[in-house]
Amino acid sequence: LNTNGIDFVVNPGVYPPSEDTYLLVDSISLTNTDSFLEIGCGAGLMTVAAARLAEFVVATDVSFDAVRNTVETLERNENKHQVDVFQSDLLTALKVDYEFSIIAFNPPYLPQDDFTSNLDQATIGGKNGIETSSHFLAQAKNHLKPGGRIYLVCSSLADIKKIQHVMEKLEFIVKIVSSKKLFFEELHILEGSLLKSYTETVL
Ligand SMILES: C[S@@+](CC[C@H](N)C(=O)[O-])C[C@H]1O[C@@H](n2cnc3c(N)ncnc32)[C@H](O)[C@@H]1O
Repeated sequence: LNTNGIDFVVNPGVYPPSEDTYLLVDSISLTNTDSFLEIGCGAGLMTVAAARLAEFVVATDVSFDAVRNTVETLERNENKHQVDVFQSDLLTALKVDYEFSIIAFNPPYLPQDDFTSNLDQATIGGKNGIETSSHFLAQAKNHLKPGGRIYLVCSSLADIKKIQHVMEKLEFIVKIVSSKKLFFEELHILEGSLLKSYTETVL
């Protein structure tokens, strides 16, 4: 995916596209046969990039400001495909039979600290920084098509080994597909894929 030429503004209280946003966008390839779900769409940059390619795109965020921001970003750009955007805590508001070939989440991934700000919901992922991601993984598995893939951002400031372990327990085949060293942390993009045969057997 790429965000070239996308017109957007970031509304107050919404996470501004940052290094992690662009690393995740760069790590995902889509074709027009893909169906794409973004959790935590924020200002909507990746959603718009995905809607240029994939036919079926859904974006959700727990923050209503982020949902509104994504809708605005979609309106500012010409979109080839229609996108559904709605407020949801992770995947809980999705229809049970909605399935996607690719699901992506740049989650709140930092461990809790003593500081608080109004962007905490966008950055703090629980005590160890992996709680939100762990809930996401368990829910995402139920909305993945056979052979589908999930993409998740994680930081060296959180417990990456534990996240990988959670993924393996859920029967994902885990790969780190890209990494980027920043001043105070290293970001990684984890890819989790489900064996076609596994999902087919279970279904
Ligand atoms: C790090 S920001 C990423 C925003 C955007 N995707 C980007 O990459 O710039 C995390 C986003 O996840 C959303 N979020 C946090 N907890 C969530 C949850 N339980 N369900 C859905 N979205 C959540 C936040 O509101 C925020 O917009």
